Amino acid sequence: MKIEFVATPSPDLAARVIAVPSGATPKLADSERALAEGAAGAARFDGEAGSMVEIFVQREQNIGRLILLGVGKADEADMEKAGGALVARFQMAGIDALSVDLSDAGATPRAAARLAGAAAQRGWRFDIYRTTLTDKQKPTLDRIEIAGAPQDTDAAWRDVDALTQGLELTRTLVSEPPNILYPESFVERCRHLEELGVELTILDEAQMRELGMGALLGVSQGSVRDARVLAMHWNGTGEDGDPDIAFVGKGVTFDTGGISLKPGAGMEDMKWDMGGAGAVAGAMKALALRKARANVIGVVGLVENMPDGNAQRPGDVVTSMSGQTIEVINTDAEGRLVLCDVLTWVQQTHRPKTIVDLATLTGAMIISLGNEHGGLFANDDSLADELLAASRVSGDALWRFPLSPAYDKLIDSPIADMKNVGPRGAGSITAAQFLKRYINDGVRWAHLDIAGMVWADKPGSTHDKGATGFGVRVLDRLVRDTAEG
Ligand code: BES
Ligand code: MN
Ligand code: ZN
Repeated sequence: MKIEFVATPSPDLAARVIAVPSGATPKLADSERALAEGAAGAARFDGEAGSMVEIFVQREQNIGRLILLGVGKADEADMEKAGGALVARFQMAGIDALSVDLSDAGATPRAAARLAGAAAQRGWRFDIYRTTLTDKQKPTLDRIEIAGAPQDTDAAWRDVDALTQGLELTRTLVSEPPNILYPESFVERCRHLEELGVELTILDEAQMRELGMGALLGVSQGSVRDARVLAMHWNGTGEDGDPDIAFVGKGVTFDTGGISLKPGAGMEDMKWDMGGAGAVAGAMKALALRKARANVIGVVGLVENMPDGNAQRPGDVVTSMSGQTIEVINTDAEGRLVLCDVLTWVQQTHRPKTIVDLATLTGAMIISLGNEHGGLFANDDSLADELLAASRVSGDALWRFPLSPAYDKLIDSPIADMKNVGPRGAGSITAAQFLKRYINDGVRWAHLDIAGMVWADKPGSTHDKGATGFGVRVLDRLVRDTAEG
């Protein structure tokens, strides 16, 4: 979707959209007023964010559309809702461009940019493998012109546009099928970040073995695909030094469960078991594109969890890079085995003071929170509060869960330092306790279990069904609010 900010609406566009705040009366041309007001009244249109009235009007030689678009309070959340709703309604409507007039919306630059961003984000589709779509099944809308935005919207738009491009990378990675997207090809899909100034470091299996990443490699050993660790370092501060913050992502490009094989029904969903890694890659892209004045590293552990003759067994004991040993009770609890070695590596090599990891870690998270919030676990209240604040403004909803020594005890093992699963109860918390055992003293750490948030069965305000890009916004916002001076 092309977004253009213009000074005055192009007269030749067939579809004109007027943003109308709650309870306001739209300012309309005399020739259109009676019809539009009549239609608005009949449709009980009151300017609620995302509501719309569409009428057809005679304009010189042809028939055009006039659309009243409710923008509610015209704050960031309502403008975002409106922009998304607009594209959801008109993407397939036969028109190729919309002209949106914000003159009377009373929006801030950021809110105006959020409307534009939501429009672009809601319009994103993943159709590359659909070769038989008829013209009617293809989107027509590809350009939105926005007039009457407040001054300084350009700067706000640059940031939202960067975020949108980051989201699109994440959604593409999450949507690609697992025969196409595997550890090595994930890395290739991130190569272009180098052109944006992101420094990439890639570890292959030989290097991981050298480093002693026995937990991650144990997961990978049943797959013919080679594992990778990919580190993406963006330093926008102009100063050398350790990154202020590290993002760590679970990148299981397909999770069969391994020898603890998952049931067949719905197993195809496990192509998006790399959603945490996808979010980290997308966030790094957004930061680089908007030249964030922060020093941030994103590291993802990329593996495929398969059950072949060389696969790890329930009962195996592996030694992690930290030196701690793990009894693998269930090969389907693989995400924590991948993350623990990546967490150790990033702390040993980059000494970040703050770490946020993202992972589609447990089905139990979906039992707890459904598809409405991601779970947040943290060893530090200040970091938890920063993330919750970033969550509220960004739209990536999070809800905090507890950690405690009582839960930690549940993963003690009789044969090794820990086992990779606890009892049936509190499965998301014991998974987080496992990760916590790999965090050094003094490091602020948060874990986001986003199992229910990466993929949507129904459209939301800024996404269609499918990949959501969850995590990119909250990470971008966290950096903006806490790491950029
Ligand atoms: N990737 C899954 C978690 C998951 C399940 C994410 C469903 C999204 C939807 C993870 O690797 C897993 O299999 N976890 C197990 C842990 C259990 C064996 C302790 C689970 O949740 O069942
Ligand atoms: Mn699993
Ligand atoms: Zn998994």
